Amino acid sequence: MPPDFLISLLARYSQQPPSIRPHVTLTFAQSTDAKIAAIPGKQLILSGDESMQMTHWLRSMHDAILVGIGTALNDDPQLNTRRLPPPHNLPRPIILDSHLRLSTSCKLLNNFRAGSGRRPWIISTPSQDPSWISRKDALEQAGANIIEIPSLNGRLSVPAVLQSLRDRDVRSLMVEGGATVIASFFSASVVDTLIITTAPTLVGDNGLGYTLAGSHQQFTLAHTQLLGKDTVTSWVA
Ligand SMILES: NC(=O)c1ccc[n+]([C@@H]2O[C@H](COP(=O)([O-])OP(=O)(O)OC[C@H]3O[C@@H](n4cnc5c(N)ncnc54)[C@H](OP(=O)(O)O)[C@@H]3O)[C@@H](O)[C@H]2O)c1
Repeated sequence: MPPDFLISLLARYSQQPPSIRPHVTLTFAQSTDAKIAAIPGKQLILSGDESMQMTHWLRSMHDAILVGIGTALNDDPQLNTRRLPPPHNLPRPIILDSHLRLSTSCKLLNNFRAGSGRRPWIISTPSQDPSWISRKDALEQAGANIIEIPSLNGRLSVPAVLQSLRDRDVRSLMVEGGATVIASFFSASVVDTLIITTAPTLVGDNGLGYTLAGSHQQFTLAHTQLLGKDTVTSWVA
Protein backbone atom coordinates (compact mmCIF):
# COMPACT_ATOMS: atom_id res chain seq x y z
CA MET A 1 0.00 0.00 0.00
CA PRO A 2 1.20 3.57 -0.63
CA PRO A 3 2.18 5.63 2.44
CA ASP A 4 -0.91 7.05 4.22
CA PHE A 5 0.10 10.64 3.58
CA LEU A 6 0.09 10.06 -0.19
CA ILE A 7 -3.35 8.45 -0.04
CA SER A 8 -4.86 11.41 1.82
CA LEU A 9 -2.94 13.98 -0.22
CA LEU A 10 -4.18 12.62 -3.55
CA ALA A 11 -7.70 11.64 -2.44
CA ARG A 12 -9.00 14.77 -4.12
CA TYR A 13 -7.72 13.46 -7.48
CA SER A 14 -10.59 10.94 -7.45
CA GLN A 15 -12.79 13.89 -8.38
CA GLN A 16 -13.08 14.80 -12.04
CA PRO A 17 -10.07 16.90 -13.16
CA PRO A 18 -10.66 20.21 -14.94
CA SER A 19 -11.72 19.80 -18.58
CA ILE A 20 -8.60 21.67 -19.75
CA ARG A 21 -5.92 19.66 -17.95
CA PRO A 22 -5.18 16.65 -15.73
CA HIS A 23 -4.55 16.95 -11.99
CA VAL A 24 -0.82 17.85 -11.78
CA THR A 25 1.70 16.76 -9.15
CA LEU A 26 5.12 18.40 -9.40
CA THR A 27 7.82 16.46 -7.57
CA PHE A 28 11.59 16.33 -7.34
CA ALA A 29 14.44 15.48 -4.99
CA GLN A 30 16.87 18.15 -3.85
CA SER A 31 19.98 18.41 -1.73
CA THR A 32 19.87 20.47 1.46
CA ASP A 33 21.43 23.33 -0.52
CA ALA A 34 18.56 23.11 -3.07
CA LYS A 35 20.32 21.43 -6.00
CA ILE A 36 18.58 18.77 -8.08
CA ALA A 37 21.68 17.53 -9.92
CA ALA A 38 25.45 17.71 -9.81
CA ILE A 39 27.52 19.02 -12.67
CA PRO A 40 25.72 18.77 -16.04
CA GLY A 41 25.90 15.35 -17.63
CA LYS A 42 26.22 13.48 -14.33
CA GLN A 43 23.16 11.93 -12.73
CA LEU A 44 23.02 12.44 -8.98
CA ILE A 45 20.95 9.99 -6.93
CA LEU A 46 19.70 12.09 -4.03
CA SER A 47 16.85 9.96 -2.65
CA GLY A 48 17.50 7.13 -0.23
CA ASP A 49 15.76 3.73 -0.55
CA GLU A 50 12.72 4.72 1.51
CA SER A 51 11.96 7.93 -0.37
CA MET A 52 12.69 6.22 -3.72
CA GLN A 53 10.04 3.63 -2.80
CA MET A 54 7.66 6.48 -1.94
CA THR A 55 8.33 8.01 -5.37
CA HIS A 56 7.45 4.70 -7.04
CA TRP A 57 4.17 4.56 -5.07
CA LEU A 58 3.51 8.13 -6.15
CA ARG A 59 4.14 7.17 -9.78
CA SER A 60 1.67 4.29 -9.48
CA MET A 61 -1.00 6.78 -8.32
CA HIS A 62 -0.84 8.79 -11.56
CA ASP A 63 -1.93 8.05 -15.12
CA ALA A 64 1.28 9.47 -16.60
CA ILE A 65 4.76 10.77 -15.70
CA LEU A 66 6.36 13.62 -17.62
CA VAL A 67 10.02 14.68 -17.93
CA GLY A 68 11.91 17.05 -20.23
CA ILE A 69 14.31 15.84 -22.90
CA GLY A 70 17.21 17.21 -20.82
CA THR A 71 16.45 14.62 -18.15
CA ALA A 72 15.79 11.87 -20.69
CA LEU A 73 19.19 12.46 -22.32
CA ASN A 74 21.12 12.96 -19.09
CA ASP A 75 19.63 10.22 -16.89
CA ASP A 76 18.05 7.75 -19.37
CA PRO A 77 15.27 7.16 -16.79
CA GLN A 78 12.83 4.23 -16.80
CA LEU A 79 9.98 6.15 -15.10
CA ASN A 80 8.41 2.87 -13.97
CA THR A 81 7.34 1.32 -10.67
CA ARG A 82 9.86 -1.53 -10.47
CA ARG A 83 10.33 -1.19 -6.69
CA LEU A 84 6.69 -2.05 -5.99
CA PRO A 85 5.14 -5.47 -5.49
CA PRO A 86 2.59 -6.34 -8.23
CA PRO A 87 -0.14 -5.62 -9.02
CA HIS A 88 -0.03 -1.85 -9.42
CA ASN A 89 -0.73 0.77 -12.05
CA LEU A 90 2.08 1.40 -14.55
CA PRO A 91 1.98 5.07 -15.60
CA ARG A 92 2.49 6.29 -19.16
CA PRO A 93 5.93 7.91 -19.75
CA ILE A 94 5.82 11.28 -21.52
CA ILE A 95 8.79 13.34 -22.76
CA LEU A 96 8.75 17.00 -23.84
CA ASP A 97 11.07 16.92 -26.85
CA SER A 98 10.49 19.65 -29.48
CA HIS A 99 13.36 18.53 -31.71
CA LEU A 100 13.04 14.76 -31.27
CA ARG A 101 16.45 14.29 -29.69
CA LEU A 102 15.41 11.17 -27.73
CA SER A 103 17.54 8.13 -28.55
CA THR A 104 15.80 5.16 -30.17
CA SER A 105 17.78 2.92 -27.81
CA CYS A 106 16.79 4.68 -24.57
CA LYS A 107 15.52 2.55 -21.68
CA LEU A 108 11.95 3.82 -22.08
CA LEU A 109 11.75 2.44 -25.61
CA ASN A 110 13.74 -0.70 -24.75
CA ASN A 111 11.36 -1.45 -21.87
CA PHE A 112 8.32 -0.91 -24.09
CA ARG A 113 9.68 -3.29 -26.74
CA ALA A 114 10.54 -5.84 -24.04
CA GLY A 115 6.94 -5.69 -22.75
CA SER A 116 7.95 -4.21 -19.37
CA GLY A 117 6.91 -0.60 -19.96
CA ARG A 118 4.06 1.34 -21.53
CA ARG A 119 4.47 2.97 -24.92
CA PRO A 120 6.24 6.34 -24.42
CA TRP A 121 4.55 9.44 -25.74
CA ILE A 122 6.85 12.14 -27.07
CA ILE A 123 5.43 15.64 -27.34
CA SER A 124 7.12 17.56 -30.12
CA THR A 125 6.76 20.53 -32.45
CA PRO A 126 5.71 19.66 -36.02
CA SER A 127 8.36 20.42 -38.61
CA GLN A 128 8.94 20.03 -42.35
CA ASP A 129 12.68 19.63 -41.73
CA PRO A 130 13.71 16.31 -43.37
CA SER A 131 15.95 15.41 -40.42
CA TRP A 132 13.04 15.94 -37.96
CA ILE A 133 10.82 13.78 -40.20
CA SER A 134 13.42 11.01 -40.36
CA ARG A 135 13.91 11.11 -36.56
CA LYS A 136 10.13 10.92 -36.17
CA ASP A 137 10.01 7.81 -38.40
CA ALA A 138 12.86 6.19 -36.47
CA LEU A 139 11.29 6.90 -33.07
CA GLU A 140 7.88 5.63 -34.23
CA GLN A 141 9.50 2.45 -35.54
CA ALA A 142 11.21 2.07 -32.18
CA GLY A 143 7.77 2.20 -30.51
CA ALA A 144 7.16 5.85 -29.57
CA ASN A 145 3.90 7.68 -30.12
CA ILE A 146 4.64 11.25 -31.29
CA ILE A 147 2.14 13.95 -30.35
CA GLU A 148 2.59 17.16 -32.32
CA ILE A 149 1.82 20.55 -30.78
CA PRO A 150 2.80 23.90 -32.35
CA SER A 151 5.45 25.71 -30.33
CA LEU A 152 4.91 29.03 -28.59
CA ASN A 153 7.98 31.33 -28.60
CA GLY A 154 10.18 28.37 -29.48
CA ARG A 155 8.94 26.13 -26.66
CA LEU A 156 6.04 23.76 -26.11
CA SER A 157 3.25 25.60 -24.31
CA VAL A 158 2.46 23.96 -20.97
CA PRO A 159 -1.32 24.63 -21.19
CA ALA A 160 -1.39 23.17 -24.73
CA VAL A 161 0.57 20.10 -23.57
CA LEU A 162 -1.85 19.59 -20.68
CA GLN A 163 -4.93 20.03 -22.87
CA SER A 164 -3.63 17.45 -25.34
CA LEU A 165 -3.03 14.97 -22.49
CA ARG A 166 -6.50 15.59 -21.03
CA ASP A 167 -7.98 15.03 -24.50
CA ARG A 168 -6.20 11.64 -24.45
CA ASP A 169 -7.85 10.76 -21.14
CA VAL A 170 -4.84 11.45 -18.88
CA ARG A 171 -6.57 12.43 -15.63
CA SER A 172 -3.51 12.76 -13.39
CA LEU A 173 0.03 13.73 -14.32
CA MET A 174 3.21 13.51 -12.24
CA VAL A 175 5.90 15.93 -13.42
CA GLU A 176 9.39 14.75 -12.42
CA GLY A 177 11.65 17.49 -13.80
CA GLY A 178 14.28 18.52 -14.66
CA ALA A 179 15.06 22.11 -13.78
CA THR A 180 13.67 23.72 -16.96
CA VAL A 181 10.44 21.73 -16.82
CA ILE A 182 9.98 22.47 -13.10
CA ALA A 183 10.27 26.21 -13.86
CA SER A 184 7.80 25.99 -16.78
CA PHE A 185 5.13 24.10 -14.89
CA PHE A 186 5.47 26.28 -11.85
CA SER A 187 5.27 29.56 -13.75
CA ALA A 188 2.26 28.26 -15.73
CA SER A 189 0.38 28.02 -12.38
CA VAL A 190 -0.91 24.51 -13.10
CA VAL A 191 0.42 22.61 -10.07
CA ASP A 192 -2.15 21.03 -7.72
CA THR A 193 0.34 19.24 -5.46
CA LEU A 194 4.04 19.87 -4.84
CA ILE A 195 6.13 17.14 -3.22
CA ILE A 196 9.79 17.86 -2.44
CA THR A 197 12.19 15.26 -1.09
CA THR A 198 15.18 16.84 0.65
CA ALA A 199 18.25 14.67 1.17
CA PRO A 200 20.90 15.39 3.83
CA THR A 201 23.53 16.11 1.17
CA LEU A 202 25.38 19.27 0.15
CA VAL A 203 26.13 19.51 -3.56
CA GLY A 204 27.81 22.91 -3.74
CA ASP A 205 27.80 25.80 -6.18
CA ASN A 206 28.47 23.68 -9.26
CA GLY A 207 25.19 21.83 -8.80
CA LEU A 208 22.03 22.48 -10.81
CA GLY A 209 19.46 24.58 -8.98
CA TYR A 210 15.86 25.39 -9.90
CA THR A 211 13.39 28.22 -9.55
CA LEU A 212 9.83 28.23 -8.27
CA ALA A 213 9.20 31.77 -9.48
CA GLY A 214 6.32 33.28 -11.38
CA SER A 215 3.41 31.20 -10.12
CA HIS A 216 0.08 32.86 -9.29
CA GLN A 217 -0.76 29.91 -7.06
CA GLN A 218 -0.36 29.86 -3.28
CA PHE A 219 0.79 26.66 -1.61
CA THR A 220 -0.03 25.43 1.88
CA LEU A 221 2.12 22.90 3.67
CA ALA A 222 0.03 19.71 3.94
CA HIS A 223 2.45 17.19 5.41
CA THR A 224 6.03 16.59 6.50
CA GLN A 225 7.38 13.05 6.63
CA LEU A 226 10.79 11.66 7.52
CA LEU A 227 11.61 8.71 5.22
CA GLY A 228 14.94 7.16 6.11
CA LYS A 229 17.32 10.13 6.17
CA ASP A 230 15.22 12.22 3.77
CA THR A 231 12.52 14.75 4.58
CA VAL A 232 9.47 14.83 2.32
CA THR A 233 7.32 17.97 2.37
CA SER A 234 3.97 18.05 0.56
CA TRP A 235 2.16 21.23 -0.45
CA VAL A 236 -1.27 21.79 -1.92
CA ALA A 237 -2.39 24.70 -4.07
N1 LIG B 1 16.53 15.67 -8.53
C1 LIG B 1 15.47 15.40 -9.26
O1 LIG B 1 14.38 15.10 -8.74
C2 LIG B 1 15.58 15.46 -10.74
C3 LIG B 1 14.49 15.02 -11.52
C4 LIG B 1 14.60 15.10 -12.91
C5 LIG B 1 15.75 15.59 -13.47
N2 LIG B 1 16.78 16.01 -12.70
C6 LIG B 1 18.00 16.54 -13.31
O2 LIG B 1 17.65 17.68 -14.09
C7 LIG B 1 18.63 17.80 -15.12
C8 LIG B 1 17.93 18.11 -16.42
O3 LIG B 1 17.28 19.38 -16.31
P1 LIG B 1 17.25 20.33 -17.57
O4 LIG B 1 16.70 21.61 -17.12
O5 LIG B 1 18.58 20.30 -18.24
O6 LIG B 1 16.27 19.59 -18.59
P2 LIG B 1 14.72 19.21 -18.51
O7 LIG B 1 13.97 20.17 -17.68
O8 LIG B 1 14.60 17.76 -18.18
O9 LIG B 1 14.31 19.35 -20.05
C9 LIG B 1 14.29 20.63 -20.62
C10 LIG B 1 14.06 20.55 -22.10
O10 LIG B 1 12.73 20.08 -22.37
C11 LIG B 1 12.27 20.67 -23.57
N3 LIG B 1 11.02 21.39 -23.38
C12 LIG B 1 10.05 21.47 -24.31
N4 LIG B 1 9.06 22.22 -23.89
C13 LIG B 1 9.36 22.63 -22.66
C14 LIG B 1 8.71 23.46 -21.73
N5 LIG B 1 7.49 23.98 -21.95
N6 LIG B 1 9.31 23.72 -20.57
C15 LIG B 1 10.51 23.20 -20.30
N7 LIG B 1 11.20 22.39 -21.15
C16 LIG B 1 10.62 22.12 -22.33
C17 LIG B 1 13.33 21.67 -24.01
O11 LIG B 1 14.14 21.04 -24.99
P3 LIG B 1 13.72 21.16 -26.55
O12 LIG B 1 13.71 22.63 -26.85
O13 LIG B 1 14.73 20.38 -27.26
O14 LIG B 1 12.33 20.59 -26.63
C18 LIG B 1 14.13 21.90 -22.76
O15 LIG B 1 15.45 22.29 -23.00
C19 LIG B 1 19.42 16.52 -15.16
O16 LIG B 1 20.70 16.75 -14.62
C20 LIG B 1 18.64 15.59 -14.27
O17 LIG B 1 19.47 14.66 -13.59
C21 LIG B 1 16.72 15.94 -11.34
